[in-house]
Formats: sequence, structure tokens, C-alpha cells
Amino acid sequence: MSEHIHKVTEEWAKRALIDAKTYQEWYAQSVTDPDTFWGEHGKRIDWFKPYTKVKDTSFAPGNVFIRWFEDGTLNVAHNCIDRHLPHRANQTAIIWEGDDPSESKHITYQELHDRVGELANVLRNRGVEKGDRVTLYLPMIPEAAYAMLACARIGAVHTIVFAGFSPDSLASRIEDAGSKFVITADEGLRGGRKVPLKANVDAALKRVAGVDHVLVVRRTGGDVDMEPGRDVWYHEAIEQVTTEAPAVEVNAEDPLFILYTSGSTGKPKGVLHTTGGYLVYASMTHQYVFDYQEGDVYWCTADVGWVTGHTYIVYGPLANGATTLMFEGVPTYPDISRFWQVVDKHKVNIFYTAPTAIRSLMQAGEEPVKKTSRASLRLLGSVGEPINPEVWEWYRRVVGDDRTPIVDTWWQTETGGFLITPLPGAIDLKPGSATLPFFGVKPAIVDSEGKVLEGPAEGNLVITDSWPGQMRSIYGDHKRFEETYFATYPGSYFTGDGARRDADGYYWITGRVDDVINVSGHRMGTAEVESALVAHPKVSEAAVVGYPHDIKGQGIYAYVTLMEGEEPSDELRKELVAWVRREIGPIASPDLIQFAPGLPKTRSGKIMRRILRKIAEDEFGNLGDTSTLADPSVVDDLVDNRQNRH
Ligand code: PRX
Repeated sequence: MSEHIHKVTEEWAKRALIDAKTYQEWYAQSVTDPDTFWGEHGKRIDWFKPYTKVKDTSFAPGNVFIRWFEDGTLNVAHNCIDRHLPHRANQTAIIWEGDDPSESKHITYQELHDRVGELANVLRNRGVEKGDRVTLYLPMIPEAAYAMLACARIGAVHTIVFAGFSPDSLASRIEDAGSKFVITADEGLRGGRKVPLKANVDAALKRVAGVDHVLVVRRTGGDVDMEPGRDVWYHEAIEQVTTEAPAVEVNAEDPLFILYTSGSTGKPKGVLHTTGGYLVYASMTHQYVFDYQEGDVYWCTADVGWVTGHTYIVYGPLANGATTLMFEGVPTYPDISRFWQVVDKHKVNIFYTAPTAIRSLMQAGEEPVKKTSRASLRLLGSVGEPINPEVWEWYRRVVGDDRTPIVDTWWQTETGGFLITPLPGAIDLKPGSATLPFFGVKPAIVDSEGKVLEGPAEGNLVITDSWPGQMRSIYGDHKRFEETYFATYPGSYFTGDGARRDADGYYWITGRVDDVINVSGHRMGTAEVESALVAHPKVSEAAVVGYPHDIKGQGIYAYVTLMEGEEPSDELRKELVAWVRREIGPIASPDLIQFAPGLPKTRSGKIMRRILRKIAEDEFGNLGDTSTLADPSVVDDLVDNRQNRH
């Protein structure tokens, strides 16, 4: 906890779109009269047919539905492009900065219109219709944004799979979404290294049927196999079409995208977001939280494979007519000053990244930051995991030269946009706290029985009413949606996070309280890593937990029981790490593996993860009650052998 409060400066209170008084007034109205509030703010985007109904939502057990602006019609690509053309045709929409610092380009709103139109025509000509799912497996190149917007333009539903995922992960997502069309690139390029995207798609399509078309962007010019009749080069396909494609009228509640995310159990869930409420929420949060004003250059360092890239690289900024920077590379290539070199090169005003990046850059000291100017920076942001107060202070002092506010934005794939976040001209900052709810958001803290705690309290974080950006369902499984989010605390949306609220009403997110871990801001289900491990022929059982990691926030700690007759070895350890990378992707690589002859189980056979977490955290003096274990001696062995984890 930090006692250091950074007050809103006079300059910020004056220049910001929202000051303290406005925040309080708007917030009060947004939660007491959401229909009037959102009815008004929904007009910030263009509607083909205006809505007459605003909020129609229920969190009631067995009857959860979420509908916003439900009789309105619109098109997201029209809102992100066409409506800006009369006054922004020549303004830069996207600044693309390549992996190699010698490569960058500016894409104007007119060019964006033309590229998106072409691609929309390519999709339509190959039979993609409104409601069809299109899987994108792309690096951070402008074509990723074109593809998202081209789908939106024709009413198709995109589902992006992060380009770091394995062919298996890709295949299961293609299958769940029922995509018939995949857009990829020959190879990706990150930190000077090539990623074999097309080859991964080929491998995935050996495992799943139904994909008729693969459109391939030439990024590196690397060698790839093209299957005749199925695979088409992007640059050849767009030569056959015009740049004019009608923006199809869709309903506010028609799906915009599906994005897979990890939960505590089972396979990743297809989080379904729809059109109207999502866009209103994305654009409003982007404008007010980043205080985006005319002419600002805005940079979010996320990847479009995650929700942050969807809402805060593409949809929010472009709906606002902003200039958004898209970065292909990594913070450490060609050297550790890269972020700040890019800031200076493009005169970035607003910079938004994850604590894990800041922590790793902090290790190299101040010099690589201080040798750059960064004079253009006005505001910094943080997302993805709790930010330690020391890291927050370093970020502000070193990167922000003691002058920039930091917005620590708490939200989730499921929430579509920020839920708890500062507004830089309105809310005093406490390092480590995401501060106060955004308009329309009603957080509450409950104990394990679901009792709502008042005043300063610590417990589980729930949201008691709907907001426009909320996910609508799990694709194809509404029952699982209700069970996952609304059954634990009936009547409320359960976030899966723990939080503390202080005497000023500020929220401090303490991290996940379920079996989800947060590794470098990437969300990972422990069950997924476990099922990858047990798929290995030498593994009989596995249990995975998170443990505190200096850079990653949390690391992946795997307890592995081998099959009869198999012996632990460093070689096998390496083999298992490589196996998980291949099964899921590099982000799921276990950081530590401890071979364990047995796992602590209750008599009914349930693994007691609480104990495994404590051992992983080296808190074995404090293991709690172990009397319900079938074989308590297992625990002694785990504690004694913890030195053998690597
Ligand atoms: O635990 C919270 C953490 O990230 C989780 C959501 O992960 P994901 O759906 O991948 O979305 C990440 C980007 C929005 C949350 O349940 N989290 C996200 N932002 C913060 C955070 N934890 C603390 N502070 C944050 N600002």
C-alpha cells in the first residue's frame, strides 16, 4: 500500500475533458439513471437507425441477458472510418512502427478506408456473409486492423488468435468458432526473429476441417506452402477488387467479435462482444481516461491478439478519429531504449503499457530511458496486472519525468473496456490503486458467502449491474456464461479478482482468486497447462499454480508426477517445457517444474492447491490445516524437495 497521493494538478483539472465535479455528477447520474445517461452518451457514435431503448439487462439467476441500444442499427467500420472522412481524410489514422526501426509508415483515414474496402470485397467475393466467423492469426501489421474492420464492414465476426499460440490452440479456436476463413501472414517478425505463422496455420488445418479459404499477407517474404484452391495471397486478391464496399447495417446486438480467454476450468471460453454498446463504451473510455484530444498521438503497446489491442489500439481510438500507433516489435529490440525511441520518433503524447514491461526495463536502470527526450509524453497508462507502487513511482518519475499522471486501468476481456480507472483531470492518484469506477460501473466487495461488505473492506470483487461494454455470452454456450460469471454470487457479475477498498473508496486489485494466473499480463488457466502436461506420455499427473515472479508478476510453477518407472531428470524437465510450448504456446512455458512422487489430495481425490501455492511461495511454515489430506506425508516430501525445482 502506498500513502503517497498524487493530486490532480491545476493544469490537468483545467485542460482535461472531465474534471472532479463532472466526474461526480456524471457518475451519480450514470448509476441512478442509466437509461438517461447512456441514452445521451450513446449518441457519441453514428447510428443508421437511432435506438429508442437503452438498457435491457438482467443478472437474475437462470435468466441472464444483456442488451443495450437493442433496436438501433449501425456499422462499426462506418464509425471508425467513413464518418471521419469529411474532415480527417488526410489525417493519420494509424502510425505503424515495424520491428526494424527503419520501417514505419503513416496510414491516413482515406487509406484506411480504401484498404478496408478492398479486403471487405475480397471476403465477400469468397462467400463470407454477415454473421460468419473469420479467424485472424496475424502479427502486428496494419493488415490486422484492416482485417478487423473489413469483417465489421460486412457484418462478419472476427476472432483473433494471438500469433504466439500453437497450431493446436489455433485449431481448437477455429473449431469452436466454426470459422471457414482464416487470415494470416507468411511469417511474423518480433525482435528480429521470425515466427512461422502460415506453417502453423497449415498444421492447425490438418487437425480441423471446414476452412475453405486462407488469405496470406506477405510480410517477410519467407518460403511458405500455398495450397491451390484454398490459399490466396492477400496482395494478389486485392488487385481483383475495388476499394468501395458498403458498410452493412447491423443491429446493436449483432456480434462484433469473439475472443478466447482462459478461465479456471476447461478449455478457453469464446468471449462474445456485440456491436453498439461495445463501441459506445470503447470510444467513451478511450476518450475520457486517456483524455484524448484533437491532434494527440496515442500509443498502446498491446497486441491485437488480446482484448487491449481490440478496444484500445483499434476500436476506441479509431471511433474517436484518433491517431493510434501500432508497434510490431518488442521493448528490447534492437536495444532496451526502443519504447522511448519510438515515443520520440513519433512524438507520442499518451503511452499505455503493462507493468511487466516496466519491471523488465527498470532492471536496466534509468540511463536507457533518460538518454531519450520523451518531452512529448503527457500521460502514461498501465494495464493487465497489479502494478507495484515502487514500479508505479519509477514509471512516473523516470519515464514521465515527474510530470505525467498514470492511469492504472483495471478491466478484463469480459468487460470490453475499463471498469475501474482514474480520470487524469478528476481523480487523485494513489500508486498501486486503480482508484474509482468509470461511469455506469457499480463495483462491490463481497465475502466468501456473498455478503456485501461496506466501507473499507477486502474480499472478492463483483459488479452489481450491467455496463454497455459487457460481454454478452460465451459463444455457443450461454449456460456456461451464466455458471461462470453469475452463479458464484447470484445477481452479480463475479470478476474472479480480489480487491480491497480503502477509506476513500479507492479500489486496490489484489489479483485473481480463482485458478487463473497472470503471467506477464497474459492470462493463463492452470487447468490448461495441466492438461498439456498430462498429455505427455511420461506424465501421470500435474498440478500448476502461480508464484510471485519479479518481472512476470506471476510465474508458472508445475508439480509433476511421473508414470511408474520414469525417472526425473533435467533432460525430461526441458522436454516437458518444450512440450507445453508446442501444445499451447511459449507464453505457457512452466518457469519451474518440481517432480513430485505424489500430490496433496483430500480423501475424495481433490488436489489441495492452497497447499501447493504456499509451497511455491516458500510459505511452507504456514500450510494451514492438512488433516483432511488422504496422505499428509506427501506434503513433507514436497517441502523437502522444493530445492529440486528448476
Ligand atoms: O486479474 C485482473 C488483471 O487481468 C485480468 C484480466 O485479464 P485479461 O482478460 O487478459 O485482460 C487483460 C487486459 C484488460 C483481471 O481479472 N488485471 C487487468 N488489469 C489490471 C489487472 N489487475 C490489476 N490492475 C489492473 N490494472
